[in-house]
Amino acid sequence: MTGPRGLFVAFEGGDGAGKTTQLGLLAEHLRAQGCDVVVTREPGDSRIGPQVRAIVLDGGELDPRAEALLFAADRADHVAHVIRPALERGAVVLVDRYIDSSIAYQGEGRGLGRDQVAAISAFATGGLEPDLTVLLDLDEAARRDRVERQGYVDRIEREPGHVHERVRQAFLDLAAAQPERYLVVDAARSPRDVAADIAVAVDKVRP
Ligand code: TYD
Repeated sequence: MTGPRGLFVAFEGGDGAGKTTQLGLLAEHLRAQGCDVVVTREPGDSRIGPQVRAIVLDGGELDPRAEALLFAADRADHVAHVIRPALERGAVVLVDRYIDSSIAYQGEGRGLGRDQVAAISAFATGGLEPDLTVLLDLDEAARRDRVERQGYVDRIEREPGHVHERVRQAFLDLAAAQPERYLVVDAARSPRDVAADIAVAVDKVRP
């Protein structure tokens, strides 16, 4: 089987880093140039996404391994039914969270082990990796401030600050290990400046 033809860009980072805003701005930039763009998110946009979200984000206590497997199940269905088909027709796919979120939150945050969680995700995705990952990096004080202002705090956002510090470091370590496949941006800057850096990086890797 030949690999997918489109371009796959993942957005990662802590809660409140502005991923959704930046995904929207990038989609606008690419559509203005005539690209076929698919914007999608995890957990949520697979066929089982709504049920997975209800359990992992809004439900009660859950074993960390069950949590990791549910995110992976959502990802498997998402790749098979949304991401791969879009890439195969040549689209640009922008995904709000992907494998790195599982490695950072479940592998590091929940203490399941980064490598083990990476292996579960590799199984779930059949090895499909983003061409570029945009990491929106925000320090813990700014993260807490933004999350508190948004009002509703989900099961994962309720974790204490030191857990979020470790999650942040895990994202940064993943980026540092493969710098050619990552763009790390300081998410505390103005949304317009952040968007400009992202557009330049994506234009460089576009087919
Ligand atoms: P969501 O409401 O989509 O908001 P945002 O991505 O803007 O923070 O929340 C998704 C939550 O799920 C977020 O706290 C991170 C968490 N998450 C994981 O813990 N593991 C994963 O694999 C994914 C995809 C998300």
